[in-house]
Amino acid sequence: MSKITIKEILKKKGNKPIACLTAYSKPLAEILDKYCDIILVGDSVGMTLYGMKTTKNVKIDTMILHAQAVKKSVIRSLVVFDMPYKTYQNKFIAYKNAKRILKLTKCDAVKIEGGKNEANTIKYLIKKGIPVMGHVGLLPQTSKKYKLQGKNLSQRKKILQDAIAVSNAGIFALVIECVVESLAREITKNISVPTIGIGASKHCDGQILVIDDMIGLNSVNHRFVKKYSNIKRNIDEAVKNYCNDVKKRKFPFSQNVYKQ
Ligand code: KIV
Repeated sequence: MSKITIKEILKKKGNKPIACLTAYSKPLAEILDKYCDIILVGDSVGMTLYGMKTTKNVKIDTMILHAQAVKKSVIRSLVVFDMPYKTYQNKFIAYKNAKRILKLTKCDAVKIEGGKNEANTIKYLIKKGIPVMGHVGLLPQTSKKYKLQGKNLSQRKKILQDAIAVSNAGIFALVIECVVESLAREITKNISVPTIGIGASKHCDGQILVIDDMIGLNSVNHRFVKKYSNIKRNIDEAVKNYCNDVKKRKFPFSQNVYKQ
């Protein structure tokens, strides 16, 4: 199994769809690594695993621990580290943090939310040898509400210009989150790097979802999430059966006991 490279991701533009998911732990990353082109250690970890209301309070060192866990089982997929809120306020802070992140986690790239305003930072990181993935549309780190973007002309224009600015800055792929279908199509047509949609239609060059949403481990109910499994129901059943067995003194069964 050979490691997927950024060059290979770039070549997939308009050609082969790119499959991406988030992961925060070693066991899940091990499964994802068999199928995904890109694994994102997303700052969604704050809401997904820690029950935070937003991603604003996610700390860089928490993310580093999760990224290290993910990297322990990944051989093939490209692993991207999502830089948390206020860790890239200017290009120097961004570089200091990104350099430390990649050194400690051995991730392949970082992701930065934002458009035109982040273009200089992105350019600087790339000049310093740090590959960057962009993120436009709905920006969970700074948006006040989680709602569909690009519905009116001025929003549309801004998001398209943001996408072009970060693409020109040198990103290798662009996440487009929660935008109307026609805007995702327009961005995908107008930039030279692959677009990865989350709630951004099939016109993108690839798709990403938060793993816990996709396997039905939480009760997130966005229109754009397809639940491919109902893991929560399976876990509920297992926990219920275990507790019943303990309470009825059935567990441990003879095969679970060490005899001399
Ligand atoms: O943090 C995250 O999981 C993300 C994805 C939703 C793209 O940024």
